[in-house]
Amino acid sequence: MVLSNENEFVVQDTTFSSLHNAVVVLTGASSGIGRETALALHQHGAHVVFGDVDANGAAETLSMAEQQQNQLGGSVEYIQCDVSLYDDVYRLFSSALDKHGHVDHVVASAAIFNREKWIDPALSIEEVAKPNTKASKILDVDLVGTANTSRIAGPFLMANRKGDTEKKTLTLLGSVASMQQVGEAVMYQAAKHGVLGLLRAMRTPFYRHRIQVNCVCPDITLTPMAAPFMDSFKKNRAWTQTSEDVARVILGLLDSDIHGKSFYLGAGRAWEFEDGLSEAMPHWLGSEGSRHFKWNLECLAKVSPVPFSSHTFSNCFCQDH
Ligand SMILES: NC(=O)c1ccc[n+]([C@@H]2O[C@H](COP(=O)([O-])OP(=O)(O)OC[C@H]3O[C@@H](n4cnc5c(N)ncnc54)[C@H](O)[C@@H]3O)[C@@H](O)[C@H]2O)c1
Repeated sequence: MVLSNENEFVVQDTTFSSLHNAVVVLTGASSGIGRETALALHQHGAHVVFGDVDANGAAETLSMAEQQQNQLGGSVEYIQCDVSLYDDVYRLFSSALDKHGHVDHVVASAAIFNREKWIDPALSIEEVAKPNTKASKILDVDLVGTANTSRIAGPFLMANRKGDTEKKTLTLLGSVASMQQVGEAVMYQAAKHGVLGLLRAMRTPFYRHRIQVNCVCPDITLTPMAAPFMDSFKKNRAWTQTSEDVARVILGLLDSDIHGKSFYLGAGRAWEFEDGLSEAMPHWLGSEGSRHFKWNLECLAKVSPVPFSSHTFSNCFCQDH
């Protein structure tokens, strides 16, 4: 796998042979992108153990998997799990390890979305007397849930590993709302910026253990989460993509040797942006600002050496080092 000159990640080999018999722990597969990813993995012979709060949706995913042509012997199993509850997430991973003896890939897709006004000067003094738990729940599920999944994933991916060349990956679901302001969904944007922050903070410790970690940031995708806005998107001729499009990129990443990158996914295509952001720093921070920034980053690296940092991150593929 290579990125094109334009940083586009093109999934060419869709046989995904490395996923045959792989064990994948997935969150949020009762619907949308998670469900499509689980079904695609199953079709390629992987063993999927997924956690979700929605038991009815999970039953639908299981029945869809049962109806799939599956000559490669994959399986799909559901464990009731609220990713914001740490013990639930631990139980999800334990179930996968107990059943299969190892975990190869983790995909953190579970999330919720709403546009509750949690932070807004238009709120009255009476309204802010009490917290808005519906809004803060987004942080609990989308950010803390992803952090719970990531923390627990590490040791479970390492368990019973046959040497550090055996492929292990963690893929986070960010969003276009991880990258910049998108509308006024305040808490969702804060949570999804946090998910991108997690990727940037985790890539060094995960690299040390040769576990690939990447973040995919989809733009508008036709799932129940985006359904309330679809009419307006269509009316304004927005680019859209299907959850199958996103699932194909996720499988491509699981099958690749890419590490530490983030991808914007729009209209079924994927572009890496970590390297571009780093290279373009003099443009967006100015030459003097970026010189100061990089100098201090290098000073920090002397205190706490890292195999790479944001500006030395190019070509970071797990097998190169
Ligand atoms: N659909 C889009 O346009 C879009 C755009 C950008 C990013 N994303 C991201 O993609 C991922 C998948 O979203 P989707 O569009 O498939 O949404 P979706 O609503 O179809 O699916 C989300 C799944 O997460 C589950 N979930 C919710 N809370 C949970 C919890 N506490 N514990 C466990 N499971 C929980 C839901 O039950 C559901 O099955 C999310 O991280 C979302 O933020 C989606």
